[in-house]
Amino acid sequence: MPQRFSDLAALRQCVAGWRHAGERVVLVPTMGALHTGHLALVAEARKIGRRTVASIFVNPTQFGPSEDFSRYPRDLEADLALLGQAGTDAAWTPDVATMYPPGFATRIEVAGLSEGLCGPFRPGHFAGVATVVTKLLNQVRPDVALFGEKDFQQLRVIQQAVADLDLAVEIRGVPTVREEDGLALSSRNRYLSPEERAAAPKLHAVLSDIASASRNGTAVAGRIAAGKAALEAAGFRVQYLAVCDARTLAPVERVDGPARVLVAAFLGRTRLIDNLAV
Ligand code: PAF
Repeated sequence: MPQRFSDLAALRQCVAGWRHAGERVVLVPTMGALHTGHLALVAEARKIGRRTVASIFVNPTQFGPSEDFSRYPRDLEADLALLGQAGTDAAWTPDVATMYPPGFATRIEVAGLSEGLCGPFRPGHFAGVATVVTKLLNQVRPDVALFGEKDFQQLRVIQQAVADLDLAVEIRGVPTVREEDGLALSSRNRYLSPEERAAAPKLHAVLSDIASASRNGTAVAGRIAAGKAALEAAGFRVQYLAVCDARTLAPVERVDGPARVLVAAFLGRTRLIDNLAV
């Protein structure tokens, strides 16, 4: 089992000791309900640092009023056991009152990057993420923090916030871990019925088709329309399917440099997101 901390002063004392000894500290922020994708982040953390901290905090401020905060899966004991098997040194498990004491009044908004893609469908989500991640980085004070590329917009928002606020930490993305049929691992996959689970890999198939057919100069509108139609035929309700500049996340009409194809779609009540480099 990792050493578990719910008290900020005790966590800080532990990490300060490691840093004083010259040990590189890597943070893996999570909301728990850990799966192989999170464990890949921990494995990467162990490669690049001497000490690994994972945080587990289901952050209420990044869920909208009609989202799944209350039904978000929580199993702290199982998560701690998995972190222990993966060789995590410490687990930071603050409660909501520690993270947001009475009178808490600050919000970090990252303009531009938060506004497209998931932004309009999840008002306030990225401000919730940027605020809690900034707090986690200040609480743990890691040298490096790792985030899955599955949440690509989140990764870019966090990179921008860290650069803008001069936080002394390196933010790295880690490639998405997938099931054999291509479905990106997500804590929300457990909500899928057997029929929905059978349809779910279509999301990755459509992204792969668009990514592999797109070269510099390729116009994307026709491919996106065909991809949307294929997803709808497979039972998805598509929120967006877009090819975007990989740095600014602005939609592009023609591929012209590093780009990313990104999608969000509902299968039944479950919202899935995914993306691929073009
Ligand atoms: O990706 C997640 O699990 C969360 O958005 C994060 C980064 C831990 C912030 O709550």
